[in-house]
Amino acid sequence: MSETQSVRYEVVDKIGVITIDNPPVNALGPGVREGIIEALERGNGDAGVEAFVLIGSGRNFIAGADVRQFGKTRPVGTRVSAAAIDDSAKPVVAAIHGYALGGGLEHALACHYRIATPGARLGLPEVTLGIIPGGGGTQRLTRLVGPRVALDLIASGRQMSADEARRLGIVDEIVPDGDLRGAAVRYAKGVAARRPLPRVRDRTDHVLEARGDADLAEALAASLGAKARKLQAPRAALEAVRAAVSSDFDEGVQIEQQLFEKLENADEAKALRYAFFAEREAGKIPGAPESFKPPPVKSAAVIGAGTMGGGIAICFADVGIPVKVLDATAEGLERGMQRIRETYAVRVKRKSLTQAQMDERLALIHPVDSYDAIGDCDAVIEAVFERIDLKKDVFNRLEAVMKPGALLLTNSSAIDINVMAGETSRPQDVAGAHFFAPANVMKLCEIVRGDQSSIETIVRAVKMGRDLGKISVVAGTCDGFAANRSRAPLVTEAMLMLEEGALPEQIDKVMVDFGYPMGPFAVSDLSGLDVSYDTRKRRAAADPNFRKLHVPDRMVELGRKGQKTRAGWYRYEEGDRTPHPDEAVKRIIAEVARELGTPQRSFTDEEILKRLLFASVNEACKILEDGKAYRGSDIDVMWLHGFGFPRHRGGLMFWADGVGAREVHRQVAEWHERYGRRWTPSRLLAEIAGRDGQLRDARAQA
Ligand code: COA
Repeated sequence: MSETQSVRYEVVDKIGVITIDNPPVNALGPGVREGIIEALERGNGDAGVEAFVLIGSGRNFIAGADVRQFGKTRPVGTRVSAAAIDDSAKPVVAAIHGYALGGGLEHALACHYRIATPGARLGLPEVTLGIIPGGGGTQRLTRLVGPRVALDLIASGRQMSADEARRLGIVDEIVPDGDLRGAAVRYAKGVAARRPLPRVRDRTDHVLEARGDADLAEALAASLGAKARKLQAPRAALEAVRAAVSSDFDEGVQIEQQLFEKLENADEAKALRYAFFAEREAGKIPGAPESFKPPPVKSAAVIGAGTMGGGIAICFADVGIPVKVLDATAEGLERGMQRIRETYAVRVKRKSLTQAQMDERLALIHPVDSYDAIGDCDAVIEAVFERIDLKKDVFNRLEAVMKPGALLLTNSSAIDINVMAGETSRPQDVAGAHFFAPANVMKLCEIVRGDQSSIETIVRAVKMGRDLGKISVVAGTCDGFAANRSRAPLVTEAMLMLEEGALPEQIDKVMVDFGYPMGPFAVSDLSGLDVSYDTRKRRAAADPNFRKLHVPDRMVELGRKGQKTRAGWYRYEEGDRTPHPDEAVKRIIAEVARELGTPQRSFTDEEILKRLLFASVNEACKILEDGKAYRGSDIDVMWLHGFGFPRHRGGLMFWADGVGAREVHRQVAEWHERYGRRWTPSRLLAEIAGRDGQLRDARAQA
């Protein structure tokens, strides 16, 4: 045994076994590539060694390049260690279990043979980090599977199962779970004497065929979706695959390298790397006892079979957790179950699910008619109508039936968690689990801390969210919690800019150009203008200082409620969701502005963008000041997964750091002068601006 600390080398039955041992995921950190090269040199110089096995220790093969090392100089890149495998005089067998991603798969592609366990997951996720494979992966994969399949895999970054990899010819053989190392050594012995070595780089069948394919160029370009085309990395993937077809291997690798270098330090890649780590950071709970290992939620109950409750039930069933659904009325329950069945039926129709999978999942969702039936569940999520009396009643009943230690969660989006916790004798077990609509689609799960929620409850709720495939982020209890509270000023400013002369279609276009899938007005039409209208009415009744939003109020009063009335901020044709700008909306806005006597002016796109986002940055800083979020980067994760903020811009705070905290503060202070109280600069923002610090690094103050 020897080599670098993260690579072990030993000879077993005349096979040189190279084991990557770099916890937690065997990323290609410092020393790993060097260790592989050294081991190959030793084995090739050792007459007692016939072949090699490359294998990962722990839970996977190799999860890819060490994301922390991007943007820094690497003494030895994957291109070099992959070439060393390729050049080995003795065959190398990749033995894959768990993840073989990015540089991990690139190493495997350089091996002469690949075997995998049934559960292995393979992919080239580089585009999700704003780059392309830079270790010869684009060239080898194209030679192995042809340009169409290669581009699909590289430009989407998707993972494939071992089975799919086998069908595509990426994996030579699937071996049973259990003794992968033993199987790999036997496999290596079986191929040790075979010559010539089957090197992927020498394969020419696919590229020769592709050169004669007149439709190829167009087909490849068309295969990039509209979203991918706007980003640099998928476009570079297309170029790299084209190069693999038109050039020889070494030339292709050169082109790949040049493309990679251009991307590595571009803003897009920096933002995407940041998002990757921000998501992982969000899962860390300050003050959580290290020794506490949260038990998984193995059974759940949802109270309220409305749209949210049904969506949440689907989340559990989708990951194989049995869930009971309870509603106040038998009709409500049946309607809810019907909606769940319809949601699944649509998935089957779209072929994202088979009928058998649908049946399996439906069998996990149990409608029940009494609280007594849910007492034994590990977690319960209340999702009834947002009325405080109803919520209190539910928590009273939960108190009576739930087993000790059950997680008592509420999906409320605004009501103070403490009020609900106060209805029970176990406020430590109560927290918010705020899903975003549609609950079975949106990734964000905002876990809300009540004043008395125990840290263990928060850790358990965060884990439950993760187990549901969500991104859990913790917020404190306050009006709107952290996600919606930070977005509310954006919506307010959008509405107020209308009074000053901007139009919905102009504002929406600015946000779509920025990278959002839809602008705020198109979103409002989708969810219905009446929803926020009702909330505003309730709030205005409770708060004399509440700012009236005249334009949207007028719209609702005129019956323009959005898509459902085929008229909102846009007009819609029957059965069509395409928004069309509407002269009537222009007239309504002009009328309101006249009544208010608001002077009219024009807006530049830049002013619109800053006005919307700076308002939210300022509020996010106030949220941190109040201790209602742990970190600036948590706000970013909420925006990425709750509101469709463009991932290649990192997140709200990361984007604002690009502008500079100092400039954000200067502008907020200026608008404070012009527009008054709602733009009062946050103390924390002023402090960060004063020291030229970074908003994304801000921490909870209270
Ligand atoms: N480089 C550096 N660190 C990595 C890493 C990588 N490629 N992949 C994972 N990690 C770290 C994570 O930051 C996390 O560290 P932390 O515990 O200190 O926060 C830890 O490994 C576990 O990762 P996590 O994502 O929480 O585990 P998981 O089991 O949910 O998922 C993976 C495992 C491998 C699927 C996932 O981490 C992943 O997709 N990694 C990136 C893979 C990639 O893009 N590789 C190509 C790079 S070119």
